[in-house]
Amino acid sequence: MNPVLELSGITKRFGDIEVLRDVQLRLYPGEIHALMGQNGAGKSTLIKVLTGVFPASAGEIRLGGELVRPDSPIAAQRLGISTVYQEVNLCPNLSVAENMFAGRYPKRGLRIDWKAVHAQARELLARIGLSIDVTRLLSSYPVAVQQMVAIGRALGVEARVLILDEPTSSLDDDEVRKLFTVLRKLRDEGLAIVFVTHFMNQVYAVSDRITVLRNGGWVGEWPVAELPAPALIAAMLGRELAAAQARTVPTQVTEAGAVPLLRAEGLGQAAQLQPIDLQVRAGEVVGLAGLLGAGRTELARLLFGLEMPDRGTLSIDGNAVRFASPSDAIAAGLALCPEERKTDGIVAELSVRENIALALQARMGVGKFLSHAEQTRLAERFVAQLGIKTASVETPIGLLSGGNQQKAVIARWLATAPRLLILDEPTRGIDVAAKQEIMEQILQLAEAGMAVVFISSEISEVVRVAHRIVVLRDRRKVGELPAGSTEDDVYEMIAAAV
Ligand SMILES: Nc1ncnc2c1ncn2[C@@H]1O[C@H](COP(=O)(O)OP(=O)(O)OP(=O)(O)O)[C@@H](O)[C@H]1O
Ligand SMILES: [Mg+2]
Repeated sequence: MNPVLELSGITKRFGDIEVLRDVQLRLYPGEIHALMGQNGAGKSTLIKVLTGVFPASAGEIRLGGELVRPDSPIAAQRLGISTVYQEVNLCPNLSVAENMFAGRYPKRGLRIDWKAVHAQARELLARIGLSIDVTRLLSSYPVAVQQMVAIGRALGVEARVLILDEPTSSLDDDEVRKLFTVLRKLRDEGLAIVFVTHFMNQVYAVSDRITVLRNGGWVGEWPVAELPAPALIAAMLGRELAAAQARTVPTQVTEAGAVPLLRAEGLGQAAQLQPIDLQVRAGEVVGLAGLLGAGRTELARLLFGLEMPDRGTLSIDGNAVRFASPSDAIAAGLALCPEERKTDGIVAELSVRENIALALQARMGVGKFLSHAEQTRLAERFVAQLGIKTASVETPIGLLSGGNQQKAVIARWLATAPRLLILDEPTRGIDVAAKQEIMEQILQLAEAGMAVVFISSEISEVVRVAHRIVVLRDRRKVGELPAGSTEDDVYEMIAAAV
């Protein structure tokens, strides 16, 4: 069988930075191909070269044996190469159908043929098993549905190759399973699918072959059965992943008689969260576990003054507080690293240095300034500590890979040295090795006395770092588990709560 798509000798330079070097990729009809590599390895860049976002500096793309050179994503899509990029760009305030056909509306004469738009949108979504009202606003649907709409948009009618760059980062287990059913169906219809993810279990659940990139170079291509997880990780890292230091997380952080740093009693908000009790002590990592929509983010926002509770009390060091805004929470020593990096997180045009210094500067208040030199020292320290891959601290953060942007957002909040740090999905989009480093950092900070509230959809991570796990379901707390609990313990608690 001949490959449907073959990339060879792909090199990409931005100025004098070489981001891809002699990379190849072969896709066959009817396969799901995992494209793997650490943060900054070049996966998204390869996809952008392939889909005409920017030209390659050297190399060839052959589609069905013919040399092609798409010069825009639309041109690539016309050739049958469809893509859902890492940063999904849909418009929440347009309808589902408008989102799917914006830029390529079917027309009758000069007019948009709305009947055809709606019919075709429904047809495409039906192909991926989704039956929804396509005339409603996209924002009226949950994230998982929006993600499916993005895939529906990419599919078009003539797609031969479908590329998905981290499509599952905001989906829960159930939704991932549904997506995989769709992908397998499309594969069986003959589509070649490229799948990028940092979830190792997903690679093995769905893909047929794997290509690994490391530091902009091509490492190899394997059938999935010939590359078990440890070998895959070694190929990505160029070394074995050092076994995570077996740390015995103390069951309880005891400061004899001390009042907890933060205590919430019956804290809640009508539609958002049932009344919750929560205590966090200095030096303690409290994990919030639960499925998507369980109320973890809502709780974080209530604690940080982004939402106003309408019942219950909150106290810091035993003194009742009422945060009217995040700045009150910050003044009380709290920090929140939000889950939505693109909207709440980075300022793309500013440098890595400015992005990292941002929160600390804000905390210092008006009239006091971090000097350029202080900002540089600060940024360079975190770039080294978290292994942020960037040419320099002066690079605009928008040019960093997705995972490295996320590390910089974490650094920004660590830099404020808060007394209590709330991390909402901090490891989303972060590679296996970096995840381990970030967990290690969190434990070190806790040892040094910081209190941490850690939110993650990956329950394996929560059980690994938390001294205590608060389990949420359907916007209420269903129980607590001690350190040493397993993933299954958490799932059981979620399932048992009805
Ligand atoms: N326009 C650009 N100018 C300069 N450097 C860039 C540009 N775009 C990407 N890079 C660099 O190319 C490298 C590869 O980035 P890329 O986004 O392809 O990584 P990735 O493998 O997708 O990582 P992640 O898993 O974090 O998404 C990064 O070091 C990034 O900073
Ligand atoms: Mg990427």
